[in-house]
Amino acid sequence: MTTVAIPYHSGYGHTEVLAQKVAEGVRDAGQTPVLLKIENAAQDFAPLIEEITKADAVIFGAPTYMGDVSGVFKVFADATASAWFTGAWKDKLAAGFTNSHSFAGDKLHALNSLAILAAQHGMNWVSLGVPAPAVTAAERGPDSLNRVGAFLGLAAQSDNASPEITPPAGDRETARLLGERVAKAAVRWAVGASAAADLGKAA
Ligand SMILES: Cc1cc2nc3c(=O)[nH]c(=O)nc-3n(C[C@H](O)[C@H](O)[C@H](O)COP(=O)(O)O)c2cc1C
Repeated sequence: MTTVAIPYHSGYGHTEVLAQKVAEGVRDAGQTPVLLKIENAAQDFAPLIEEITKADAVIFGAPTYMGDVSGVFKVFADATASAWFTGAWKDKLAAGFTNSHSFAGDKLHALNSLAILAAQHGMNWVSLGVPAPAVTAAERGPDSLNRVGAFLGLAAQSDNASPEITPPAGDRETARLLGERVAKAAVRWAVGASAAADLGKAA
């Protein structure tokens, strides 16, 4: 059994819906999700950092604010320097998701920030792995998977409405698929490390 930590920030609840679907995907793969809510910039991040250190894989989540991860998420990211100093997250798997109002909304910049955070820690990035819809833009609807066509991670789109109804079903299912993909990769990674150790190779 592997553990997948899901540290996320959500100012208004839309990114949180996705975090819960990511966790569902991890469970669907038979693995254990650990949802870690980043509440505000003043909180003590040490318990979250400790949970991530114990996990096999991490899926970072943040809304896109002003073309990048939210400021609260960035404060958390800076606090993870304590793990950077010791290399505590090195060689774990990592992935990410973001959400914003516009279809583009500069979400790719936020995903880049998540991937660079993972790279700074020496983690191995897992992409989304869901094809963009092979239909015309007019046919692309709320049930479409990977609706905005991102590959580095999940880029979801929410309207200015309650998180009960937005982001739409396709984005939620794409989040579930990301969780499932990372959890399955974490199993392969753990089994591979174990086999390498048995062979006397560096694991
Ligand atoms: C301060 C702020 C900045 C935002 N900047 C962007 C942006 O750059 N691009 C965009 O598409 N939406 C932007 N939005 C809209 C949010 O991304 C959108 O409302 C999202 O669903 C919020 O997610 P949350 O409910 O998890 O906080 C911004 C919202 C706020 C509050």
